Amino acid sequence: MISVATLLKETIKEFIETAESIRSYPKEYSTNLYGKILATLFYEPSTRTRLSFESAMLRLGGKVISTESASQFSSAIKGESLEDTIRVVSSYCDGIVLRHPEVGAAERAKKVCPIPLINAGDGSGEHPTQALLDVYTIWREKGKIEGLHYAIAGDLKYGRTVHSLVQLLSLYPDVRITFISPQELAIPSYLLELMGKRGVEYREMHSMYGGLQEKPDVIYLTRVQTERMTKVSEVPLFGKYELDMLKKDCIIMHPLPRVTELAREVDEDERAVYFRQAENGLWMRAAILYRLLR
Ligand code: NCD
Repeated sequence: MISVATLLKETIKEFIETAESIRSYPKEYSTNLYGKILATLFYEPSTRTRLSFESAMLRLGGKVISTESASQFSSAIKGESLEDTIRVVSSYCDGIVLRHPEVGAAERAKKVCPIPLINAGDGSGEHPTQALLDVYTIWREKGKIEGLHYAIAGDLKYGRTVHSLVQLLSLYPDVRITFISPQELAIPSYLLELMGKRGVEYREMHSMYGGLQEKPDVIYLTRVQTERMTKVSEVPLFGKYELDMLKKDCIIMHPLPRVTELAREVDEDERAVYFRQAENGLWMRAAILYRLLR
């Protein structure tokens, strides 16, 4: 699972069904990956992605080997190439989850990896498993993915979760997307071209107020990826005032971690689903491991 580009709606549906099934009957799945070993190889910080993958593997009866700061604590610091590391690690396990700061790292790793490889984020490129848990969350909270109006706000240039998510959303009929970001953090043009090709109606806006006036069904917020830029930009903020502009049934999503773009006072509102979204990640990642490693 390197990119969402090749995923079909039918496959997404199967992932969602498997995630729901594992969540409902965890005992029945608790030995499915018995005897299998997953390696989590993270060259960038992570809380949710790595720990939810590891927890999912354990819940399915498998085992985990892990390096959480691979840029310092693997042989990368001695100058070993990613390809060499992948060749070696793949001989120790049955699947690899890789997070790396360079766009295209997962694609490079795939070329030398004889076992299932999961991209857990390649720089500002993609984050396919996050996109799957995001659509799973939308499906759980709204009962459907098609026919909804999505507002996607924040750092749309470097935010890899957005890059994967919009590709998945564009597979569904009658989806509308309003992108909200400062000009310098706008959504990349290759994604706008894809929206155009798939007939998705979209708009780009620069203020949260303007975007929320469009009355979206889902607002998806993201933080500024400060680690990927030299001059840090500000993104539109979301707080109490913005909350009051939302429709009664609009859900508020965020891949987390949040910094200052999403005020703590929003947490208590019943439309805030981001902590449930993070929890859904566990079950979606269990579904991904179940389908890839069995
Ligand atoms: C995201 C990531 O790493 O891209 N986090 C995550 O996996 N939930 C979002 C981010 O870091 O802003």
